[in-house]
Amino acid sequence: MKGLILSGGKGTRMRPLTHTSAKQLIPVANKPVLQYGIEAIVAAGIPDIAIIVSPETGDEIRQFIGDGSRFRANVTYVEQEAPRGLAHAVLTAENFLRGASFVMYLGDNLLQHGITPLVEEYRSLNCNSEILLTRVPNPSQFGVAELSSDGRVVRLTEKPKEPKSDLALVGVYMFDEHIFDAAKAIKPSKRGELEITDAIQWLLDNGFSVHPHIVKGWWKDTGKMEDMLEANRTVLDTFERSVRGVISGQSAIEGKVVVEEGAQIVDSVVRGPAIIGREANIQHAYVGPYTSIGNRCSLEYCEIENSIVLENSTIAHVDGRIEASLIGKNVKIVRTHRKPAAYRFMLGDNSEVGIT
Ligand code: TTP
Repeated sequence: MKGLILSGGKGTRMRPLTHTSAKQLIPVANKPVLQYGIEAIVAAGIPDIAIIVSPETGDEIRQFIGDGSRFRANVTYVEQEAPRGLAHAVLTAENFLRGASFVMYLGDNLLQHGITPLVEEYRSLNCNSEILLTRVPNPSQFGVAELSSDGRVVRLTEKPKEPKSDLALVGVYMFDEHIFDAAKAIKPSKRGELEITDAIQWLLDNGFSVHPHIVKGWWKDTGKMEDMLEANRTVLDTFERSVRGVISGQSAIEGKVVVEEGAQIVDSVVRGPAIIGREANIQHAYVGPYTSIGNRCSLEYCEIENSIVLENSTIAHVDGRIEASLIGKNVKIVRTHRKPAAYRFMLGDNSEVGIT
C-alpha cells in the first residue's frame, strides 16, 4: 500500500497563522500535526507517502519533512494548484498512486491509536474502500454516513443541514484504484469542490464495497483554534513526566511536565500537563495545565494556561493571566514604559485579541 497525506487547502479557519504558515505545521504538544500523520502511516508499515501541498505552503512543508528519511518514510510531493476538494487532491496524485491501494490521511487530523489496526483490517477484508466514522454532537459540520440496520453504508452526505445520523467521517480513508473512476465521474458540489463523500457515494452506487469502521479512541480534526487547543490538551494528557532542562530558584514543577533539553525554569511554577520546549526561558512565571511552550520562547513575569505558544515568542510583564490562546512564532507580548501609557499592537489580518 501507499500513503497520501493532504496538506494543501486554504486553512481559512486558522487565520492569521495560515497567512504565513501551513496549518498542518502548527504544533500540538510541540510536534507539528503533520508529523503525527506521517508517523502513523509509517507505523502501519507504509513508507511510500505522497504529500499534497499548495503553492503557498509547499516550500515550508518540503523544508520541514524533506525526503522523509527522518521519519523512516520515502516522501514525494505533489502540488495541487488550487484547493478544489479532497477528491480532486486524489486525482492530482493519480500517477503516484496508480497500481496500489492506498490510505488517504487529512494532514490536519490526529487519531489516538494511529491507523495500524485499520490498515490491517482493510488488507484482510478485501473491500474496495474502508471509511472511518465517529459519533459527534454536531454532525452537520462534517461528512455524515447513514448506515443500514445491518451496518452497511447506505449514503454519505457532506455537511447535511438535517443529518440522518451522528456518524461523522474521520479524515482517514482507504481506497483501491476504483476511486479514480469515481473522482472523475462526479461533478463539483455547490461549494465548487470535488467532494470525497460524493466519490465514495459513487462507489456505493456502482456496486463497490465500502466498509465502515467506527473509531473507538479519540480523533481530532485541528481545523480551528478550539480544536487545536483540545488536541493539545488530549495529547499532553498522555505524556509522562520528564525533566531534562535546568530548574532553579523557588521553582515548582508539578505533575506531568516535560521540560526539554536546554530549557531554563527560574523562580516559576509549571503545573502539568504541560511541555516546555528546548532552550525556552521561563522566569518568575506560571505555566498552567494544558500548555505547550515552543522552543526558544521567553516568558517572564506572566501567567499562561490552556494555550499553545509557537517557537521564539516572548511574553513579559503581563498582569492578567493568558488563557485559551494560540500564539504564533516570533510574537512579542510585552509591557513597555513608553508614554503615553497605551496598548500598542501590530497584528496580522484576522487576528483576535481579547482585553479585560
Ligand atoms: P479542510 O480543513 O476541509 O480545508 P482547508 O484546509 O482549506 O481549511 P478551511 O476550511 O479552514 O479553509 O481540509 C482538510 C485537509 O485537506 C487539510 O489538511 C487541507 C487538505 N486539503 C487539500 O490538500 N486539498 C484540498 O483541495 C482541500 C479542500 C483540502
